[in-house]
Amino acid sequence: MQSVEAKGFSIPIVGFGTWALRGRDCARLVEQAIRLGYRHIDTAQMYDNEREVGEGVRASGKRSEVMVTTKVAPTMLAPHDLERSVKASLAHLRLDAIDLLLIHWPNPRVPLAETLGALAKMKQEGYAKQIGVSNFTVALLDEADKVSSEPLVCNQIECHPFLDQDKVVAASRAHGMAVVAYSPIARGNASGDALLERIGKTHGKSAAQVCLRWLTQQGIVVIPRTSKVERLAENLGNVDFDLSDAEMKEIAGLARPGGRIVDWSYSPKWD
Ligand SMILES: NC(=O)c1ccc[n+]([C@@H]2O[C@H](COP(=O)([O-])OP(=O)(O)OC[C@H]3O[C@@H](n4cnc5c(N)ncnc54)[C@H](OP(=O)(O)O)[C@@H]3O)[C@@H](O)[C@H]2O)c1
Repeated sequence: MQSVEAKGFSIPIVGFGTWALRGRDCARLVEQAIRLGYRHIDTAQMYDNEREVGEGVRASGKRSEVMVTTKVAPTMLAPHDLERSVKASLAHLRLDAIDLLLIHWPNPRVPLAETLGALAKMKQEGYAKQIGVSNFTVALLDEADKVSSEPLVCNQIECHPFLDQDKVVAASRAHGMAVVAYSPIARGNASGDALLERIGKTHGKSAAQVCLRWLTQQGIVVIPRTSKVERLAENLGNVDFDLSDAEMKEIAGLARPGGRIVDWSYSPKWD
């Protein structure tokens, strides 16, 4: 599995997203994903599936090879709450430590320096091995970089061809952070897109694989989710072919206003 390096930390370039996966299905899919070669699993306190994710990781028998990310909910960003929340996440996961711990969404009502201070403390005390952020804007990245006492290794953001994220991708990289793309197949919308389908045909790949390759070829980590075992291998199989420069450009041309799927107005409501 190829990786993206950030501040000395290695992030497997294809991970498995678990939002909306629940119960036994979730545990089974996580276990199966790891058996098929995934080495990066993404969950969050808000997904209400940390127990099942931990179960799947343990059942795979490959805990030591797998990087597990979880995220602190935006309602839990005051230092005392954050600490409580991380300890609860770890208890649900039943793992030795959280490999990568992220702030899920910024909360403008809690000073960022306080939140990042608490996040750093979680790392220093061994609850998390690495820390980072999610849904951070260019301005928030600049502020975070100034106030964090520990390196922030990634910014997890919505990223796919239908949305122009060039500025925030460049800013994340300027701060030495890896970019992790969530909703990397645009919640399934890559499938059926005429351009992605056409390019896929020339490579013997599906539209979803082309969509993922467009990201991984730029050194962006992807965390596609599926509830179907047969799609696990398909989504993993996006790094064994190359898109031409012309194809990369054509795909970038799919970006359009309104291409965002996850609603940002969601964030400030968390207070
Ligand atoms: N940090 C954040 O704020 C944030 C926000 C959103 C998501 N995330 C993370 O990112 C992960 C991925 O994002 P996402 O779940 O929003 O969307 P996604 O991975 O872009 O898309 C998932 C959807 O695509 C379908 N799909 C999967 N593989 C496919 C394929 N090969 N061909 C056609 N359709 C396919 C799935 O349906 P089937 O189940 O039927 O296969 C599902 O409906 C999440 O699960 C979560 O871990 C983070």
